[in-house]
Amino acid sequence: PLTLTPTPSLSNASYSQTVELADIEWDNLGFGLQPTDYMYIMKCPHGGTFSKGELKRFGNIELNPSAGVLNYGQGLFEGLKAYRKEDGNILLFRPEENALRLQMGAERMCMPSPTVDQFVESIKDTVLANKRWVPPTGKGSLYIRPLLMGSGPVLGLAPAPEYTFLIYVSPVGNYFKEGLAPINLIIENELHRATPGGTGSVKTIGNYAAVLKAQSVAKAKGYSDVLYLDCVHKKYLEEVSSCNIFVVKGNNISTPAIKGTILPGITRKSIIDVARSQGFQVEERLVSVDELLDADEVFCTGTAVVVSPVGSVTYLGNRVSYGEGIGAVSQQLYSVLTRLQMGITEDVMNWTVEL
Ligand code: COI
Repeated sequence: PLTLTPTPSLSNASYSQTVELADIEWDNLGFGLQPTDYMYIMKCPHGGTFSKGELKRFGNIELNPSAGVLNYGQGLFEGLKAYRKEDGNILLFRPEENALRLQMGAERMCMPSPTVDQFVESIKDTVLANKRWVPPTGKGSLYIRPLLMGSGPVLGLAPAPEYTFLIYVSPVGNYFKEGLAPINLIIENELHRATPGGTGSVKTIGNYAAVLKAQSVAKAKGYSDVLYLDCVHKKYLEEVSSCNIFVVKGNNISTPAIKGTILPGITRKSIIDVARSQGFQVEERLVSVDELLDADEVFCTGTAVVVSPVGSVTYLGNRVSYGEGIGAVSQQLYSVLTRLQMGITEDVMNWTVEL
């Protein structure tokens, strides 16, 4: 076992306990799957409710070829993180918010869902069972991926007769290969991520399959990710494939309002509160491409991406740059949020849950 040592750049506090860590290279973690020790599985039988789940060794699962999730995409996922504090203890960030969002999504996708308590307790059990995989403070976090899927067999189009709630975890670092350096986005003008009345506001698996084509084309051209516009006017910002977007102009910060086609990000919601607490004027409303191109600073938010500064946006072949390096506002919000998530500053928002 390795012993956790304090990260000098973060603090000179010493750990009050010895923490056993998995034997992996903790420096320079990216965002890829590192298999861990345990996953959590809870099933909801036909016509029943979720009752008792169990931890199993992490590994492959068995599904009937006619499972609802495989045939008709009846599936949702969530994403949240656990951080290691400097004293070695572990903090979850707003797990009840993920529980509530999963319930909303399950309602839209015709699935039963775990109660908030079941969700939070199963997350805690899974993280504790895998605690040696929670990175040392400042090296990253444990990404927690809950799945909810129609696992029972169907052939005709109908809700599946059985559901599985599964949680797996993986230690992660920065989502984008750029790290904290600004990312370069391209605005997609043909393909759309979501339509009014569709499923854009829930975290259903199909929303993410639907953006892979545009994302691959963009990546092949050297862009980090794709920014989508509303499908009616092709004029208002929606979101990036993997995160929400914010536009800064002076003391004003604007982000597209939640209106059925945009994912209600938990980091989005947290950053709105953090920005207001720091004295910024924050607006949730329609934000046009013109405003984006005229912004002082642009940044993205998400559980995986945290707060990622945007260095440039390309629209209809024209590239607008926001300058080198991370902008002052993005930097400020990133540091207030992450210090709170890691337990470095007092959690005045009451967002973290200590294990
Ligand atoms: C997250 O930020 O947790 C997500 O689910 C986005 C995903 C594309 C990694």
